[in-house]
Amino acid sequence: MDKPFSQACINNRGPIADILERVFANKRDILEIGSGTGQHAVWFASKMSHLCWQTSDQLQNHAGICQWLDEYPLPNLLAPISLNVLTDPWPNRSYDGIYSANTAHIMPWKAVVAMFAGVGERLLSSGVFCLYGPMKYRGELDAQSNVQFDRMLQQQFPHQGIREFHDINRLALEAGLVLLEDVAMPANNRFLVWQKV
Ligand SMILES: C[S@@+](CC[C@H](N)C(=O)[O-])C[C@H]1O[C@@H](n2cnc3c(N)ncnc32)[C@H](O)[C@@H]1O
Repeated sequence: MDKPFSQACINNRGPIADILERVFANKRDILEIGSGTGQHAVWFASKMSHLCWQTSDQLQNHAGICQWLDEYPLPNLLAPISLNVLTDPWPNRSYDGIYSANTAHIMPWKAVVAMFAGVGERLLSSGVFCLYGPMKYRGELDAQSNVQFDRMLQQQFPHQGIREFHDINRLALEAGLVLLEDVAMPANNRFLVWQKV
């Protein structure tokens, strides 16, 4: 099997790292939900050696993630655990940071609900949850590229689609999370940061 590769990860890792270096500055144990190829994990763990970075994803992505981790072994980067946020048991421990990129528009809404509930349960007090990806505001997408992307997602897989910020933030509030930041990112993405109260 070829090592999976995402050009988007190369493009967005710099701007994402700039924020993570700030919001994870005094954090230690990070859970990544939906590690995908594993490229983000390798890059962020190498840039932030004070963090212990736990990768996770659905089982079918583990082989690819492990190829990246085998090629770039780091003492602070942990092999993936199986975490489908809807169907798998969550790790029986707490984290002071949780990170997830490009997952909320891919997983079904009931999984987004489960993700926030799980994050609320697993984050320590003052811990932060970072969510990166495209977002709708009051039903509107400001970029034509995102309008087309949203349409394509829903045509291919009706359970997918760009989520409404207010719906997402409501889940966060129900999980005991308070919004700290909502940052505009390149390529019409957003970076949302919540803190567990
Ligand atoms: C578009 S990929 C993003 C991967 C990576 N985070 C990135 O930014 O390149 C979407 C990811 O969401 C994960 N995913 C989808 N449904 C999920 C679920 N129910 N639980 C956990 N992860 C899920 C997929 O396995 C995949 O890794």
